[in-house]
Amino acid sequence: MKKLMAANWKMFKTWDEAGSTARVLVELAAAKLPEDREVLVCPPFTCLKAVSDAFSGADRFSSGGQDFYITDEGAFTGEISPAMLQDCGAKYGLTGHSERRHVLGENDEYIGQKTAYGLSAGLSVILCIGELLDERKAGRVEEVLERQLRLGLKDVPADVAPHRISVAYEPVWAIGTGEVAGPAEIQEAHAFTRKVLVSIFGEKANEMRILYGGSVKPTNCAEIIALDNVDGVLVGGASLQSESFSQIVLA
Ligand code: PGA
Repeated sequence: MKKLMAANWKMFKTWDEAGSTARVLVELAAAKLPEDREVLVCPPFTCLKAVSDAFSGADRFSSGGQDFYITDEGAFTGEISPAMLQDCGAKYGLTGHSERRHVLGENDEYIGQKTAYGLSAGLSVILCIGELLDERKAGRVEEVLERQLRLGLKDVPADVAPHRISVAYEPVWAIGTGEVAGPAEIQEAHAFTRKVLVSIFGEKANEMRILYGGSVKPTNCAEIIALDNVDGVLVGGASLQSESFSQIVLA
């Protein structure tokens, strides 16, 4: 299983900035990328094509959408479909990112619909899960993760190819805060996530990737990526500069 080193650029970068960041990333990291790693960048929709073009010809570099709607086309002002993302070169789509859940108000059921629809439309999907600080303090981490996993994956067909689903564990209190979950916290949450995935999909869940996200930086990535059940990272702030993201990708 290749480790997935993923960037989430959120609502940052113009077309020119995105293209140049992606081109420099390829220059810095493509030749040295270990065989067992893949790189993914999820830019804003408006510069998806700029990133896909910059990655064309770079082996194991792909682009993805940060969100999508649950149908192919129609009267849904402001929305975008998996087919439109694919038209701009995207191979992946994120669902359930904590900012979609907690800032934009998406619930578990809708996130589950998106995950299933994105897969059926041909995207590989990264379902993001993670507890709030209050939920951790109340000892509810497993309850929250299990609910987000079961509802988030509810309509995914049992015969799905395991490499097309990843889960990103991103404790909400560690996103953009500089505060990283400790190795024990990450290992516990990832082992629990693996257990729930196996209970849903059986043994092939061992081939599904579980990424960690939340203040990943060049200085902590090597330690995190070496932990059991950590099959990649999802990086926000530290992925915006090609130098810093290339160090993460190669860590
Ligand atoms: P961060 O964001 O790396 O800035 O904490 C991670 C994410 O939101 O995916």
